[in-house]
Amino acid sequence: MDLRSIEEQLGELESRALAAVADAADPDALKQVEVAFLGRKGELKAILDGIGRLPADDRPRVGAAGNAVKQHVLAAVEARGHRLDQIALEVRLAAERVDPTLPGRPLRRGSLHPVIETTREIVRVLGQFGFVVYESPEVETDELNFQALNIPPDHPARDLWDTLYLDERGFDSDGQGQEAPTRHLLRTHTSPGQIHVMRQTPPPIRALLPGRCFRYENVDASHGFEFFQLEGLMVDEGTTLGHLRGLLDEVAHALFGARRPTRFRPGYYPFTEPSVAFDVQCVICEGRGCPACKRTGWMTILGAGMVHPVVLRNGGIDPERYQGFAFGMGPDRMAMLRYGIDDIREFLTNDVRFLEQF
Ligand code: DAH
Repeated sequence: MDLRSIEEQLGELESRALAAVADAADPDALKQVEVAFLGRKGELKAILDGIGRLPADDRPRVGAAGNAVKQHVLAAVEARGHRLDQIALEVRLAAERVDPTLPGRPLRRGSLHPVIETTREIVRVLGQFGFVVYESPEVETDELNFQALNIPPDHPARDLWDTLYLDERGFDSDGQGQEAPTRHLLRTHTSPGQIHVMRQTPPPIRALLPGRCFRYENVDASHGFEFFQLEGLMVDEGTTLGHLRGLLDEVAHALFGARRPTRFRPGYYPFTEPSVAFDVQCVICEGRGCPACKRTGWMTILGAGMVHPVVLRNGGIDPERYQGFAFGMGPDRMAMLRYGIDDIREFLTNDVRFLEQF
């Protein structure tokens, strides 16, 4: 092996190696090219192994030439590596491109239940007059649901609210100890909330108590065993029935139209004196008389009255100094009137086709 032939071989190896590097299509192929030419068992090593057979004077020159070939090829490998990384990135960017001009996927939005929405509307109107929402328990005692509201155990008005009692030790289902004040029941109205508020808060009081009530009912299109009420209570010095009327007109006008006629009718509740029923002109026939209003032209939307002195006293308030009014409305009924819903059972069936309409 002479010097010339080794230098020729090196030159030829370099040009083949550079061509192979340029042809490498991916990082794996590039690695293979590098190993084949520069590796420990590669072609460059094989040529340089021949140096030992050259005259000693020539060896450094050939060694330097071999090194130069190695550096050139390494530089080419590195450059090709960068280029391949860049190509890979470009390919990925093209494949994973996001088109920000595409319309987004719509979120399915729910809506408020019509009874809740109606309750909130009433709360919004009365909130403007300083009324604040309180919560009160769904499980009550006989004392609060009845006795504190001036309905003693033998009072005939109990029949209206005969209800669902909890199965408790010490109370038989038929009689024994039935009207003991501590006996628990599912509240039949939100009125016991009046007592809670009066016992907690000194006058002046302006309270709203929305919530669920329960009654033992034969369920039909207009009666549920579970329904909502919204109780109102105002206690202050100099509170009159006139204040109550003005306030209720605001609610009626917000819900049923600004010109809707309203009226008070005498009513009876043990916990108010005097008691009234509050009617709005029938929203279906506009007062002419139709089956929905039983041909009276009016629809009753709530009961109300001046808080009975006994009830004030049971709430810890001096009836000589303070007066108050209270009202209890049925948001279910009011939502039915507002939206022309003809079956109260729809409210609790959770059929989205019904609920989506509001
Ligand atoms: N609690 C009564 C009922 O369930 C409604 C009611 C009437 C509430 C008159 C009141 C009121 O606060 O003053 O039928």
